[in-house]
Amino acid sequence: MSKVSPAVGPKHPQLVVLLGATGDLSQRKLLPGLFHLVSRGFIPSCRIVGVSLDLLDADAFREFARRAVEQFTSRKICDAAWTRFAAHLEYVPLSAGPVALRQLVQQCEADLGDVTKRLLYLSVPPNAALPAIRLLQEAELTTNSHIIMEKPFGVDLESAILLNRHLHDVFQEDQIFRIDHFLGKEAAQNILAFRFANGLFEPIWNRNFIDHVQIDVPETLGLGRRGNFYEATGAYRDMVVTHLFQILGFMAMEPPTALEPAPISEEKNKVFRSMLPIDPRNVVRGQYIGYRTEEGVDPESDTETFVALKCMIDNWRWAGVPFFLRTGKRLAEGQRIISIAFREPPKSMFPAGSGVGAQGPDHLTFDLADASKMSLSFYGKRPGPGMRLDKLSLQFAMHDTDRIGEVLEAYERLILDAMRGDHTLFTTAEGIERLWALSMPLLEAPPPVRLYPSGSWGPKSIHQLVAPHAWRLPFERAWRGPTPSVM
Ligand code: BG6
Repeated sequence: MSKVSPAVGPKHPQLVVLLGATGDLSQRKLLPGLFHLVSRGFIPSCRIVGVSLDLLDADAFREFARRAVEQFTSRKICDAAWTRFAAHLEYVPLSAGPVALRQLVQQCEADLGDVTKRLLYLSVPPNAALPAIRLLQEAELTTNSHIIMEKPFGVDLESAILLNRHLHDVFQEDQIFRIDHFLGKEAAQNILAFRFANGLFEPIWNRNFIDHVQIDVPETLGLGRRGNFYEATGAYRDMVVTHLFQILGFMAMEPPTALEPAPISEEKNKVFRSMLPIDPRNVVRGQYIGYRTEEGVDPESDTETFVALKCMIDNWRWAGVPFFLRTGKRLAEGQRIISIAFREPPKSMFPAGSGVGAQGPDHLTFDLADASKMSLSFYGKRPGPGMRLDKLSLQFAMHDTDRIGEVLEAYERLILDAMRGDHTLFTTAEGIERLWALSMPLLEAPPPVRLYPSGSWGPKSIHQLVAPHAWRLPFERAWRGPTPSVM
């Protein structure tokens, strides 16, 4: 298997303490991601100490990890690579307490050598974050370490402030990595490359040329094993106040002075400071029919599994341009798009029946999948006599390049960054607290949840929310598939 240049990985051996090691995220993303990073040589050497409520021993945890990787990786698993990886896995149940955790970590660090760095990964729900920090403190593992905090970071403004305060009692800010995996997606970083490495689009990236923006992340997925987590969280806290707002930050920010942590955070935070508080009248909350009978869900639950909203950024670039956001579970399609609708030109010069404007405005669309795509739609003349117009598009698909195999999954990229101490793609305390502050009017007076059938696009009132515009999804014209290679 090809090895990567050590420049992209951490310099020192890594001791990873994974809290929530048998949870959903660990199973789906973290264990498969760590396996990929270790087996491809991104991490020089490491030990991974799993911690969770389950009473397992190291072998049972290795077995659990193998099943998780088999189920959730799309890459081939080579047996020899697995055997090497499995030898790095250790486990201690939460009930064994801080002393047992410290002893196991010390033993692993002795094997790894003197210059080992620690990565503490808190893959736990918001209400378990403070007890987890206490455990790490009692186990004396907080020095010489970086800590990754999973989202949602708190559940509202007050709890986020409290969590930041407790974190700062124990860790320096430069040890803390508040993760939002959408920022680790190749396609999200490509928004920055696309906007700022080209002269074509940035001059028209403002209210004079852009009519409205949609950030739309429907999912076909249901709750899986996450009933308890989801019931206490809901779609707004799980997706909007985190991922969708962070993507909005990249999409809307001013050019930073450098692609470095402080300048990027500063520009994103300026966007968040200019955003108007979320008005509950501009929000549609939905719940799929059947949610209330899921395991871990209250039979009278008011938790939303769907949310669509309009938000506004009151600054010189964006005043008056609505940003429509939508996400939800058990919807008709799984997609992750940003769609930018440009203002329409005057149409009267075209003859009647030409079809000008008939298929909506020109759009620039980003698909945020790991294999990202981009499309620019425009009107062009249909060949033949007269002047009939068709909607055409220019498309780019990462699949069509020979670099598709080099894409790192979002979590993989961000774990490496945190190991190397690079904060560029992580969120800040100020940004998160501001987003919670903007959300408080909605959290304090949420509109009622409206039911929607699984497999639909959400409650009917979503159309009023975007009127006189229309949701881009479902697409009228599907993305083109990968181009067959030329013989
Ligand atoms: C997670 C949410 O953060 O993001 C999940 O908790 C959601 O509910 C997931 O399904 C979506 O991420 P991705 O990378 O699959 O689009």
